[in-house]
Amino acid sequence: MSEELQSSYDRVAENYAEQFRDEMDQKPFDRKMLDWLSEKVGALGVICDMGCGPGQIARYLHGRGMKVCGVDLSPEMVRQAQSLNPEITFQQGDMFALADIADDAYGGIAAFYAIVNLPRPSVVLALRELRRVLCPNGVLLLAFHIGQGIKHLDEMLGQEVSLDFFFFETAEVKDYLRTAGFELEEAIERDPYSEAVEYQSRRAYIFARKPYRQQGESCRWIDAGHKMSGGSQRS
Ligand SMILES: C[S@@+](CC[C@H](N)C(=O)[O-])C[C@H]1O[C@@H](n2cnc3c(N)ncnc32)[C@H](O)[C@@H]1O
Repeated sequence: MSEELQSSYDRVAENYAEQFRDEMDQKPFDRKMLDWLSEKVGALGVICDMGCGPGQIARYLHGRGMKVCGVDLSPEMVRQAQSLNPEITFQQGDMFALADIADDAYGGIAAFYAIVNLPRPSVVLALRELRRVLCPNGVLLLAFHIGQGIKHLDEMLGQEVSLDFFFFETAEVKDYLRTAGFELEEAIERDPYSEAVEYQSRRAYIFARKPYRQQGESCRWIDAGHKMSGGSQRS
């Protein structure tokens, strides 16, 4: 399953980048959500754009002065993200098993439409892995399409693909997050922007935090005295 997913995104990556690289310019609501994520993460550490595609979310956060990086399953998406955003570090990785990423590595994770290709029974597994790589009190922002069905695509942006897109109810994803060990903060829904801007589905944005393991625990980035200096990449 994941091989077909990866190769589908590899094939579509160039056209996807062309289509979505500047999409934040047309999505003020999403920018607000990312501003709020930045505020919540503050000096906790790096924000990872998970399932980053061409890196438009990382780019926006970087422009707001946050330390950012990006991870995607598809090497071709990573290549697109890297060439569009040379000042940010992107790497290939699978959110079910982020082998190169240490426990507690990130202050925040923005996962925009990263869960949309995950079959329902596997979502909690991926969320547990995201929780592992977040530091205590770190913040996850998930964005996804609201609904109940599955849409299969054999073609996307002019390329042959085989991709299932899963729609989720907000209450359902809240349950997945609780099961994966997150504390829920806000869950917000919006209507779609116009057809010219995006696919016509309602969207959900959920903020959730990794709880402290014990009282008095803090993030090692803060312990190490790291400062948030405007927009440089993670060292
Ligand atoms: C619908 S695209 C979203 C891309 C971008 N975040 C956006 O908002 O346009 C889904 C992305 O998630 C990536 N992805 C899917 N499964 C993944 C996994 N298991 N680990 C990491 N990335 C994954 C895909 O390669 C693809 O780039």
